[in-house]
Amino acid sequence: MSILSELKKRFAAALVPLTDEPGDFLDLIRQSQDPRFGDYQANFAMPLGKKLGRAPRDVAAEVVGRLDLAGLGEPAEVAGPGFINVRLENALIAGRLRAAAADSRLGVPPVESPRTYVIDYSAPNVAKPMHVGHIRSTVIGDALTRTLRFLGHRVTSDNHIGDWGTQFGMILFGYRHFLNEAAYRDAPVAELARLYRLVRRLMDYHEGKARLPKLRQRLAQQTAALADARARTALEQLDKKAKKERQRAEAEVENLRGEIDVLEAQLAAIDDDPEMSRLAAACPDVGQAVLAETARLHAGDDENTRLWREFLPHCRDEIDRVYGRLGVAFDHTLGESFYHDRLAPVVDGLLARGIARESDGAICVFLPGRDVPMIVRKQDGAFLYATTDLATIEYRMEHFRPDAILYVVDHRQAMHFDQLFATARLLGYGDVELAHVSFGTVLGADGRPFRTRSGDTVGLEGLLDEAVRRAAAIVEANDDAKPDGPELSADQRRRVAQRVGIAALKYADLAQNRESDYVFSYDKMLAMNGNTATYLQYAYARVRSIFARGGVDIEALRAAGAEILLDAPAERALGLAILQFGEALELAAADYRPNHLTAYLFDLAGRYSTFFEQCPVLKAETDAIRQSRLLLCDLTARVIHKGLEVLGIEVVEKM
Ligand code: ARG
Repeated sequence: MSILSELKKRFAAALVPLTDEPGDFLDLIRQSQDPRFGDYQANFAMPLGKKLGRAPRDVAAEVVGRLDLAGLGEPAEVAGPGFINVRLENALIAGRLRAAAADSRLGVPPVESPRTYVIDYSAPNVAKPMHVGHIRSTVIGDALTRTLRFLGHRVTSDNHIGDWGTQFGMILFGYRHFLNEAAYRDAPVAELARLYRLVRRLMDYHEGKARLPKLRQRLAQQTAALADARARTALEQLDKKAKKERQRAEAEVENLRGEIDVLEAQLAAIDDDPEMSRLAAACPDVGQAVLAETARLHAGDDENTRLWREFLPHCRDEIDRVYGRLGVAFDHTLGESFYHDRLAPVVDGLLARGIARESDGAICVFLPGRDVPMIVRKQDGAFLYATTDLATIEYRMEHFRPDAILYVVDHRQAMHFDQLFATARLLGYGDVELAHVSFGTVLGADGRPFRTRSGDTVGLEGLLDEAVRRAAAIVEANDDAKPDGPELSADQRRRVAQRVGIAALKYADLAQNRESDYVFSYDKMLAMNGNTATYLQYAYARVRSIFARGGVDIEALRAAGAEILLDAPAERALGLAILQFGEALELAAADYRPNHLTAYLFDLAGRYSTFFEQCPVLKAETDAIRQSRLLLCDLTARVIHKGLEVLGIEVVEKM
């Protein structure tokens, strides 16, 4: 049991006479941020005092009087308005560290009651190249999968790929009209991607052509409104409302101008390209045609089905190559197509049970407290994303019997999941936890969604390549600068660069509060100092180098199980942090936030640095201290290793 859980148990016993519901109060026992206030601090006396109508200090004193910390901590102290500070006994820390050193789980016991999780993540729409937007779901989902598994839960990972959507209509259309057979034979994935992009451009062109006059009209209106507002502000300098209106109009005009500029440039790119403009002129109805191809596929048309079956393995190869590079694997890849035959029965079931009803020819679920209904079948009979997701819940409940289903999907789908979960409740799935593990957008340096200079989304593979290329430069410079000359072969350098580059990319994502947007920066993610994978990998390699330098036999060291000595404050601080690994994992698992774990590892590495500056290891005063410090080094390395591993990040022995 973690120290925190043990403390909560002791506090719970001391709280018995004061409350029947100690849960919320026990949640206010936390690690102290400042060692002057002990190692743990209980802050519940304030709310509890309020509830009991008593002075918090009194309540705290009463609890402390009853609190039995034998074998765990020194007698607790009351501070300030009623904080309870607990300082652990050195003997407890030392004893637990010895146990952790002998434990392959580093003293983190598996959870007492394992849950069954289904985690839905990555889920790209295949047949289009993967882009920067896919990194977050893939990386966060993988880290959660590994973390929950390590804690002892049962986890099924399921990649709900989009393999049934309009993008196949686009490829089918492209295949019929623009296929380069030789290219398709040689490199099918590349040719399919070319067809996708080509059809996308043609569709965008015609959509853009239709949109441009409307935008220009809006611009004219807003420009007039702005002129009006300007005139009025000049006359009524002090009118706040008029000023606001003027600012709004200014912003709107600027936005519209920007949008029109971008659109005009895109249209010109086609118009100025003789080949493209010929194609665009030849298929004015490309949008309709693509929808028709998609509809034929869904209706089971032989030829479209045959082609879809032919395309799909190529699409899968493409994403699997990216997953291979990222070191990500799934138990299942049950894409949208897998549920096709279940969609009609889902809608029938919803109708039969009165959960859905017809409205304007569409079948809708009207949910209390929500303005917009969830549409499960369109007027034209087509099913929707939501219908598939309902069928998916049904299937997962039948086959995996989960206690929880996590959807690692970007925040823009919040409304979809809100409606989906509410409908699932109506269908009788009351007990399962349904969670939208939502995340923000990856931004460019300009604070807008990350795009290439030409305005396209950034391809995921290119991102990986660039991260590895930059990592290689860092690894080389670092190796060249070693006092005794470089120690890595060209091949080792390459492999280290791979690991460092991919790790940097993943970690930069995991270290964010997932709900925030973050600015993508190669320089920041590869920094040797700061909360980066590079820093932690470097810290790991440095710890490991001690063993090589000292000619230490690590197996023998672990087997000897020496006493842990914690006389120096830096030793104690490091030792305690090592023991808090489990608490960081629990925190990360509790609300599905890997950044608790990155923050913990960063802190651990910092404490190790302090320890290393203040406490000689190989040259320790006595052999007993040397052994103890070596064990602390080894434990630090093992926790960093394991901690990164459950984040899906590999270490390197040398860099
Ligand atoms: N393919 C979807 C998209 O790209 C994400 C799917 C997420 N999972 C789910 N069960 N809806 O937006």
